[in-house]
Amino acid sequence: MRKEFKVGVLVSGRGSNLQALIDKVHNKTFKHVNSQRVKISVVVVISDREKAYALERARKAGIEALWMNPKIFETREDYDLAVAEKLKKRKVDLVVLAGYMRIVSPAFLKEFPDAVINIHPALLPAFPGLHGQRQAIEYGVRVSGCTVHFVDEGVDTGPPIIQVPVQVKNGDDEDSLARRILKREHQALPKAVKLIATGRVKKMGRKVIVLESALKEKLRDVATSLWI
Ligand code: GRF
Repeated sequence: MRKEFKVGVLVSGRGSNLQALIDKVHNKTFKHVNSQRVKISVVVVISDREKAYALERARKAGIEALWMNPKIFETREDYDLAVAEKLKKRKVDLVVLAGYMRIVSPAFLKEFPDAVINIHPALLPAFPGLHGQRQAIEYGVRVSGCTVHFVDEGVDTGPPIIQVPVQVKNGDDEDSLARRILKREHQALPKAVKLIATGRVKKMGRKVIVLESALKEKLRDVATSLWI
C-alpha cells in the first residue's frame, strides 16, 4: 500500500523555494525507511500576500492556492488559527514555511507538533531574522549558507535539520551571495522534506538525527573537508 505524505506550504513572495519543492518532490514517490512507498503531495499553498508570485506557481502546478488576508483578523493568533484550520482540513503531515514573512504564534505550533519547518538563508545560529545574507556580508564572514530547521517559538531558533555551507567570495555583495545561497536552498529544502516524509528524521528535543547510509555520511564528510 502506498502512503500519501501531505505538505502545506506558507509563502509571502516570489516562491522559488516552493518551485523547488514542486519540481523535486511534489507528486513523486520515494521509499520510506519501513520499505513502503510514500508519495509526497503539496496539497495547499497559503499566502498572506495577495500578489505573491508563489500563488501563481502553485496554480500553474495544479495545487490549491489561497490568499488569506491578515488584515481581516483581529489578532495574529486569530489569523494563525484560521490558517491552521485550512491546513488541518487538508490533513497536512508537514507545514513548510518557504519565504513566509510572518512569525508563527505558539498557538499555531501547538496544532502541528514537530511538523513545521523553515528555510533560512544563513548558517544558524548566525544571522537570524531578516536579511541573513546582508548580515553575513556586513559581518565579513568567509562562509555562510542556508539552514532548514524545525520551527519553535523563537525567531529562527529551532533545531537545524540540514545546513549547507556557501563560500563568501572576495567582492561578493548581498545580491551575489544571496543568489549562490538560493541555489543551495533549492537543494536543501526538498531534501529535508524528502527525509522527513520517508521517516529519516528523528527529533529528540533539540537534537535532530538524520538517518542516512554510512557511505553517504562519509562522502559528505569528505566534501566538507575539501573546504580547507
Ligand atoms: C529565501 O531566501 C528564504 O531562505 C527566506 O526567504 C527567501 C524566500 O525566497 N526565508 P523564495 O520566495 O522562496 O524565492
